[in-house]
Amino acid sequence: MMRNAMPVSNRSGRRNAPRRISMLAALYLAGLVLLGLGADDSSADGDLTSKFSNQDSIRNTRHNLTQRQAAGGPSGVNMDPYRNDYGEICVYCHTPHAANTNVGAPLWNRAIPNTTYTVYSSNSMSQTASQPGAASLVCLSCHDGQQAVDAIMNMPGSGRYSATPNAGSPVGNTFLNGWTNPSGPDATAHAALKQGECLACHAPGSMVGAGAADFTVAAISTDLRDDHPVGVKYPSVNGDGTDWKTPGGSVTGAKFFDDDADNRMDKGEIRLYGNGADASVECGSCHDPHGVTNGSLFNTTFLRKPRATVCLSCHTK
Ligand code: HEC
Ligand code: HEC
Ligand code: HEC
Ligand code: HEC
Ligand code: HEC
Repeated sequence: MMRNAMPVSNRSGRRNAPRRISMLAALYLAGLVLLGLGADDSSADGDLTSKFSNQDSIRNTRHNLTQRQAAGGPSGVNMDPYRNDYGEICVYCHTPHAANTNVGAPLWNRAIPNTTYTVYSSNSMSQTASQPGAASLVCLSCHDGQQAVDAIMNMPGSGRYSATPNAGSPVGNTFLNGWTNPSGPDATAHAALKQGECLACHAPGSMVGAGAADFTVAAISTDLRDDHPVGVKYPSVNGDGTDWKTPGGSVTGAKFFDDDADNRMDKGEIRLYGNGADASVECGSCHDPHGVTNGSLFNTTFLRKPRATVCLSCHTK
């Protein structure tokens, strides 16, 4: 298991954050009631269509964390206080220099806190799931909700490096607060994707339905028992008459289902991490965080293939 040796230790500032954010959300909700909105519970708890077009590039997806409403969202509420808007999309995940090399993604710009996840387990599995592999930890560095979404190691501009960018966050974080936005307001409450932080607005009961999308399911947490297992090895017995299809393609470090038989591991092909007996299922087996085109639109939820065909790439059921 490859892990960044440096855990995020100081979380002392965190407990103030939820209160500040939910106060803002509460003020916002009070405003809604005054305006006579927000009475319709059914729409309030439904998800919203993304404002992003979900095509062409990651720029037009929810992984573009620079997005903001210049004039403010409903009632002038916007996200500026909750994450640094670095003005560039890739930097929330990648950096050209001083990258974290202990992880399963190139030029990685995020720390991976030492974490023990509660893994999926079931009697009918052929194995016990391991801790998530390096290729899953990169996703979990945001999706488990432990770190601020804008906690990156190498910020734009010179001399802005920290191996533990989330220390002391989200509120009062000297490193994250020290970044000055050249073209907009500065964030002071660096939120993580979890209840009380990003979910202070992006969860039912708050601004969902009134202006913000419901992100509840994206805040995966450190409990992975309700998620498709990751860190599981692909069964070595596969092919005709078994429960499993055979990943025909192989490259250095990966196996893949070569749907178009071109001997290349294409973005749109389901993959396994490792190309020997260790080949395992990780988040990136099914998802590509940059989006994969299917016709003119990306597959929904960053899937490599249309949802209807994902499961049957591996399972024969
Ligand atoms: C104070 C409330 C509030 C907080 C806190 C907040 N947001 Fe938002 N967010 C909004 C509003 C309002 C919108 C506008 C609705 C929209 O653009 O879809 C929005 C939109 C978004 C969108 C675009 C969604 C889409 O598909 O259109 C993303 C992504 C997003 N927020 C991420 C985050 C993240 C990550 C955090 C935590 C760092 C966060 N938000 C915290 C209010 C908030
Ligand atoms: C939300 C996080 C995130 C953002 C934002 C992001 N990437 Fe990535 N990127 C990843 C991850 C994770 C991988 C590793 C994928 C895997 O498991 O193969 C990756 C891999 C890559 C690769 C290697 C080839 C591949 O597709 O796997 C390139 C090149 C790349 N990213 C470029 C970019 C560029 C350029 C941008 C900005 C336009 C960007 N990325 C934005 C998360 C991100
Ligand atoms: C820099 C932080 C960050 C990293 C790293 C990251 N994500 Fe996300 N992701 C987000 C945010 C913020 C959202 C918006 C919340 C939402 O829409 O549900 C999101 C949304 C998503 C969604 C839902 C998209 C939708 O249309 O509703 C999926 C699926 C997803 N991420 C998968 C991944 C996977 C897989 C990886 C790793 C390959 C990854 N993410 C890495 C921050 C991140
Ligand atoms: C075996 C394939 C597979 C693996 C592995 C996998 N996912 Fe997913 N994921 C899916 C599918 C399919 C969906 C769409 C579910 C839906 O829309 O009903 C999804 C949805 C999501 C969503 C959006 C939540 C929703 O239901 O809208 C997020 C966020 C996400 N995945 C993140 C991750 C992360 C992070 C990992 C690794 C810890 C991961 N996924 C591993 C197949 C997978
Ligand atoms: C990349 C290959 C791959 C894909 C794609 C995939 N799975 Fe799996 N799945 C696995 C592996 C490997 C295991 C672990 C099986 C074992 O060890 O018995 C697993 C386990 C499971 C289990 C747990 C079985 C148990 O005994 O508890 C379920 C349920 C499941 N998958 C359903 C799905 C669904 C639904 C989808 C589509 C959303 C999907 N899988 C997509 C490879 C995959």
